[in-house]
Amino acid sequence: RKRKRSTITMSLITATLIALACLCFAPAVGAAATVSARRPLRGNDTLVSAQGKFELGLFSPAGSSGDRFYLGIWYKNIPGQTIIWVGNRASPLSAVASAELRVSADDGNLELVGPTVASTSPVVVWSSNLSSSLSPGSNNTAEIRDNGNLVLVDGGNSSNVLWQSFDHPTDTLVPEAWIGENKLTGEYQALTSWRNAQDPASGVFSETLDPNGASEVFYMWNRSRVYWRTGVWMGQAFARLP
Ligand SMILES: *[C@@H]1O[C@H](CO)[C@@H](O)[C@H](O)[C@H]1NC(C)=O
Ligand SMILES: *[C@@H]1O[C@H](CO)[C@@H](O)[C@H](O)[C@H]1NC(C)=O
Ligand SMILES: *[C@@H]1O[C@H](CO)[C@@H](O)[C@H](O)[C@H]1NC(C)=O
Ligand SMILES: *[C@@H]1O[C@H](CO)[C@@H](O)[C@H](O)[C@H]1NC(C)=O
Ligand SMILES: *[C@@H]1O[C@H](CO)[C@@H](O)[C@H](O)[C@H]1NC(C)=O
Repeated sequence: RKRKRSTITMSLITATLIALACLCFAPAVGAAATVSARRPLRGNDTLVSAQGKFELGLFSPAGSSGDRFYLGIWYKNIPGQTIIWVGNRASPLSAVASAELRVSADDGNLELVGPTVASTSPVVVWSSNLSSSLSPGSNNTAEIRDNGNLVLVDGGNSSNVLWQSFDHPTDTLVPEAWIGENKLTGEYQALTSWRNAQDPASGVFSETLDPNGASEVFYMWNRSRVYWRTGVWMGQAFARLP
């Protein structure tokens, strides 16, 4: 009986050591919690949301030649490439090795820096682009939330969201995100298709709410012509959607 107990104790100690080792080393394998001026996200490292639902990092579109890299958000646990948001849609990086997603020490903007086809020395290819009056400064931090929203917050007050990816959707609407008029920024948020499956630059199709205020979803071609419409909202469904 004594022997058994000591075996159990040893297993417990072993298990505890393994758990501690995991706690100590797991984050170093590339999953950071936040991005700040002091702690940029480098190369292939990714940021994972608290419950592990979403991941943020650089990706190369599946089926592409693999030499263009984009800042994206995807479902961490769904197999295959499930990109829901892309930052530098039309300005890819040409390599990940010296790429960095960082909070600018100058103005606190979140920015993606790295080499491009045109420039081997790193350049800013994407930025949250807040004017200085809207950004408290270099204390800002960025994190990916469990609903897939990438947020830049004031480091001294994390409920003060300065910029968020939900205000700048790409081609995918996830629960809790939104399209239509943003009453805070005055911008009109729409989903815009990728150019094709290998190129996330803006394509010709977009989807948004009727800019004239009727509760109807419009599919636009070339952002100029209505391609299809859902019919008005009837309270439970859109008129032309079964
Ligand atoms: C990043 O990941 C890709 C794909 O897994 C790999 O081919 C590449 O060598 C990695 N780059 C670096 C700098 O680790
Ligand atoms: C940043 O914002 C300014 C003014 O709103 C705009 O002219 C410029 O194109 C933007 N730059 C980027 C990289 O989005
Ligand atoms: C950054 O945060 C620290 C601690 O919260 C504070 O002491 C410092 O004044 C802040 N700096 C700026 C530029 O806001
Ligand atoms: C933090 O930011 C929120 C949202 O902007 C604001 O309502 C709140 O007053 C701020 N808290 C402090 C302590 O400044
Ligand atoms: C596409 O949109 C642009 C800009 O709105 C417009 O100038 C052009 O005529 C449109 N093309 C077609 C074929 O309608």
